[in-house]
Amino acid sequence: MAERIIAPSILSSDFANLQSEVEKLEINGADWIHVDVMDGHFVPNITIGAPVVKALKKVCSLPLDVHLMIDNPEKYIKDFALAGSDYITFHYEAAKDKAKEIINLIKSYNIKAGISIKPKTTVREIISYLDMVDLVLIMTVEPGFGGQKFMTDCALKIKELKQYIKNDTIIEVDGGINPETAEICAEYGARAFVAGNYIFAHQNMKEAIASLR
Ligand code: DX5
Ligand code: ZN
Repeated sequence: MAERIIAPSILSSDFANLQSEVEKLEINGADWIHVDVMDGHFVPNITIGAPVVKALKKVCSLPLDVHLMIDNPEKYIKDFALAGSDYITFHYEAAKDKAKEIINLIKSYNIKAGISIKPKTTVREIISYLDMVDLVLIMTVEPGFGGQKFMTDCALKIKELKQYIKNDTIIEVDGGINPETAEICAEYGARAFVAGNYIFAHQNMKEAIASLR
C-alpha cells in the first residue's frame, strides 16, 4: 500500500497570515497544500481566487492541490494553471458534458487533472473519465464549508471506485477527516487525505498531521 498523502486545507487557516500558515504546514509534515476555491454559485460560500494561488506559489514549495468548487470551471482553468497550481480538480456536477474538454484543458498546461463528485453524485456518472484523470476526489461532506461531519455513506464510494481504477490514479477524500475517518477511507482505498478543521483546531500541528498517517 502506497504511503498516505496528507493535504491540509487552508480553508481553516488564518487568512491574515497565509504565508506563515503554509510555512507551518510545510515544517510540520504536510505533503500537499489543499486550496478550496468557492464562487458563491456552485457552493454558497466565496473563498480564494487565482491571485491568492499565485501568491502562495511564491512562498510554498509543496504541491498546490487546487479544488475548484465553481460553476463554469472551463473559464478559469487558465488562470489557476498560470498561477502555479500543481493539481486542478473540478466538480463533475459543474462540468457535465464538458468534463472531457476540461480534463484536456488542464492537461494542456502540464498539470495533473482531478475530477470530484459531491455526496449525491454516483461513481457511475464519472466512470468514462477515470482513464483520463490523475486524481478522483470523493467529497464526504457537502462542499461549501469546513468543519462539517463526515458522511460514512459517501466513503463507500471509494470502495466502489477502487474496482474501476486500474492505473495509479489517486483517490482523494475531503470532508470531516480525522484519524478515525481517515482510517476508514484508507481501508476502502483512499490515498490522499484533505483535512482542515482537524489540523487547524489541534494544539499541535505536527501531531495532528502525523496522526492522519
Ligand atoms: C469543503 C472543502 C474542504 C474543507 C474540509 O467544501 O472542500 O476541503 O476545507 O474541511 P474539514 O476537514 O474541516 O471538513
Ligand atoms: Zn476541498
